[in-house]
This record gives sequence, structure tokens and C-alpha cells, in this order.
Amino acid sequence: MKPKVLLYRAIPEQERQRLDEQFDVTCFNSVNDANQDAFLAALADTEGLIGSSLDLPPERLDLAQKLQAASTISVGTDQFDLAYLAKRDIPLMHTPGVLNETTADTLFTLIMCTARRAIELSNMVREGRWTSNIGPAQYGTDVHGKTLGIIGMGRIGYAIAKRGHFGFDMKIQYSNRNRKPDAEQDLNATYMDMETLLKTSDFVCVMTPLTAETEQLIGAKEFAMMKPNAIFINGSRGKVIDEAALVDALSNGTIRAAGLDVFEVEPLSGDSPLCKLDNAVLFPHIGSATTETRLAMVTCAVDNLINAMNGDVSKNCANK
Ligand code: DGY
Repeated sequence: MKPKVLLYRAIPEQERQRLDEQFDVTCFNSVNDANQDAFLAALADTEGLIGSSLDLPPERLDLAQKLQAASTISVGTDQFDLAYLAKRDIPLMHTPGVLNETTADTLFTLIMCTARRAIELSNMVREGRWTSNIGPAQYGTDVHGKTLGIIGMGRIGYAIAKRGHFGFDMKIQYSNRNRKPDAEQDLNATYMDMETLLKTSDFVCVMTPLTAETEQLIGAKEFAMMKPNAIFINGSRGKVIDEAALVDALSNGTIRAAGLDVFEVEPLSGDSPLCKLDNAVLFPHIGSATTETRLAMVTCAVDNLINAMNGDVSKNCANK
């Protein structure tokens, strides 16, 4: 008998077939109020889990007493409690590596769009408000030659820094739990504490994972430390910042602009005060959302689940 696997996201057909060859798969394309009970019943019976965009805290996973391995189709693991899984000896597999360059492209798009006011000015054209040559009130600010501060110099942080250093002649500085000799050697990056970084960067880009230590890492105090012309970029998780404090900082001119791919609550409501601010560029969590990269992530997650169910967690395990 094949092991039972619960798939909680729609995935491309060829990857679904690979799962079906190995496992007895129950699939929920999404989990909502209408199918919640059926999902919980399947959870209670499953040996493997694969999917994304669903919080699976201990209260839920307590139901899954047969669970042997979980595979998330993301690099972020914040939808799980890693310590809880470790206690139960359940490996959590994830997809680092395959999305670094694409996510860095997205973050650089946010940098460019905020600095050059691309969305705001594009909307002006589309809405017929381009009635005379634009003047200083609509000018953007340069990206090339500026100082890019990265909080969280992991793989994606490095890929962003690489673009800044080689493509835009930017000065790179970073704060991180530990020093990154590669970034220092290859990209001439300077290691510093977060406070100094906030005070001296033209662009502050947050890429740190969401953990108990990084929750609400950036709030009113930190925004006040930034240069008045600073641009703030968040591509990690919404809960790493105090969103209400960011709204204040953008409204009061404490900082110049923000580019956000992640929010405290997703999807972001259209009623959010952020949606009323011209100096906020808002993306619907598209860091890795290209056809090529999303397929690579699913392929990686399927490989990860197959390996973990066979007892091999040597690659891409987040809690071993
Ligand atoms: C990731 O892979 O963690 C992305 O943010 C998508 O959730």
C-alpha cells in the first residue's frame, strides 16, 4: 500500500503525476470554511503533507498523529512551528535555492518602482492626468550609486546585493546574525549593526525570516532612525514590521517611500491605509511568482517529500 499524502494546493499535472506514482494522494486545491472538516479528517489520516499558504500550527498538527514528513512549497517555514515538529521528529522540507534570483528580481523591481515612482506616474498617464511635462513635484530619486542596506543577508539578500553592486554601482551594507565573508569579498559589502544601517542607508531592504526574534523588528523607533529620503523595502514577511508604524512614517514624511511584497495580513484588504498612499508600492506577494520558478519550487518540494518519506533528509530540511 502506498503511503497517504495530503496535498493542500493545486500543482502542475506532471508534478501531481509524480506524487501519484509514489503516494495515495488526497488533494485540496485550497482549504476554506466549506471544506475545513473534510481537510481535518484527511489530516488525521495522512502520513505526508505537501502544499503552501496555509498555517499549520501545533493545534492542527496534533490531529495528524500518523504524520512522518511535511514539505512546504516555499522557502519560508513560518507556517509551521519548527520546535514542535522537531519534538515529534517530523522533518519539515522547504525549497531554498531555486527562488533566490527570481525573488531578488522582484525586490529590485520594488526598489526601481519606488525610487522612480513608476506605478504612481504610470497611473497618471493611464488616467489621462498627463497634461503637461512633468516637473520637480514628480521627479524620482536615483538608484545607481546609492547605499543599499540589507537586513538579513541570506541567499536572497546576497542576490539583491549582487544586483545592486554589479548592476547599479551601489554601496552595499548589511546586518545579519553572523558575518558573510562571501558578500564582503565578492560585493565589497560592509557588516554593521542594524541601527547604523538604518541611519546610513538610502534603501533599507528587509529579507530576514520571520521568527520570534524578528517579529516586529522594524517599528516607529526604527523608521525614525532612517534618513528622511530613505526608501524601505520588505520582501520577507509582513509581521517583521509594524505596519501601522510604517503607514505613519509614510504619511508624515518620516521616510520617502516603501515597496512591499508582504503584509501583516494577506491578502491585503483594499481598505488598508497603505492603499491610499501614493508613496507605497504594493505587490501581492509575488517574490517567486514566475512560471519557471514556481514550477521549480513544486518540483523541488515533490522531490523533498519523496526523499523525506524514504528517510533521506540530507537536503532541504529546515529542522534537522
Ligand atoms: C516563500 O517561498 O517563502 C515565498 O515567500 C512564498 O511564500
